[in-house]
Amino acid sequence: MNKLRPILSVIMVPMLPVLTVAVIYFMYRIGAFDSLARERVQRMSQDGMMHGAPYTWYGVPIWQFPDDLVAYQEIVAETTPDVIIETGTYQAGLSVYLAGLLEEINPDAKVLSVDIDTTLAKKSLENLSVKGKDRIKARIVLFEGSSTAPEVLEGMKKHIKPGNKVLVILDSNHTKEHVAKELELYAPLVTPGSYLIVNDTYLETYNSSWDQSGAMPALREFLAKDKRFVVDTARNKYMITCAPGGFLKRQE
Ligand SMILES: C[S@@+](CC[C@H](N)C(=O)[O-])C[C@H]1O[C@@H](n2cnc3c(N)ncnc32)[C@H](O)[C@@H]1O
Repeated sequence: MNKLRPILSVIMVPMLPVLTVAVIYFMYRIGAFDSLARERVQRMSQDGMMHGAPYTWYGVPIWQFPDDLVAYQEIVAETTPDVIIETGTYQAGLSVYLAGLLEEINPDAKVLSVDIDTTLAKKSLENLSVKGKDRIKARIVLFEGSSTAPEVLEGMKKHIKPGNKVLVILDSNHTKEHVAKELELYAPLVTPGSYLIVNDTYLETYNSSWDQSGAMPALREFLAKDKRFVVDTARNKYMITCAPGGFLKRQE
């Protein structure tokens, strides 16, 4: 055996890097690194978001990830809302996206969207150049002011007729205090079977300063006391999302 040792080491030492690569490749193939890979892509997506709108929809900047847009589409197709409320319009990318979906799903429905400053949203809508732009624009009602201002809420309520199905997406100021107030004001408008979507809960994992002061802690406190809503985890299929745990379904 002692005589063999130098021969074995001559053979084995050059083989070590090859064996290491083979083991790593095998582990990769069986999915041992899947959660790391997902976390990495989520972080890359979040980093991208910090440098500008990640995508455009019909040429309008939209501050959403593709997985979430598919989830919105699934929810709108399944629940056929008559009114979709969005807090935080910004450049109106999501309003345009939702109004476009409604063209096929429920053409009489409205998108009510509020921002403290609607200048950019109005500009986006003016510059919209797709052929169906007039129908899309007619479906969007912009409100200027804070989402928590009583006059904004009253203005929105005027568009909700008895029996209307209402979907709410919270995407404005993501501080805990503001999200908590929005949850208090907008949750009662969500109809049974419809959804309340709390956006940017991902900020908690992105920046530790948000773990106590952002949308996620507001959401946790809300869920602890309001038992009408349950988290629909199936909407966060692949984790690349702005709203982990933020898709809430109102029970019948
Ligand atoms: C993340 S952006 C919205 C992105 C948009 N929903 C989209 O998907 O493209 C957040 C917006 O919320 C607005 N905002 C901040 N505080 C607000 C408040 N108190 N009420 C309404 N909007 C507010 C900001 O002006 C900003 O335009």
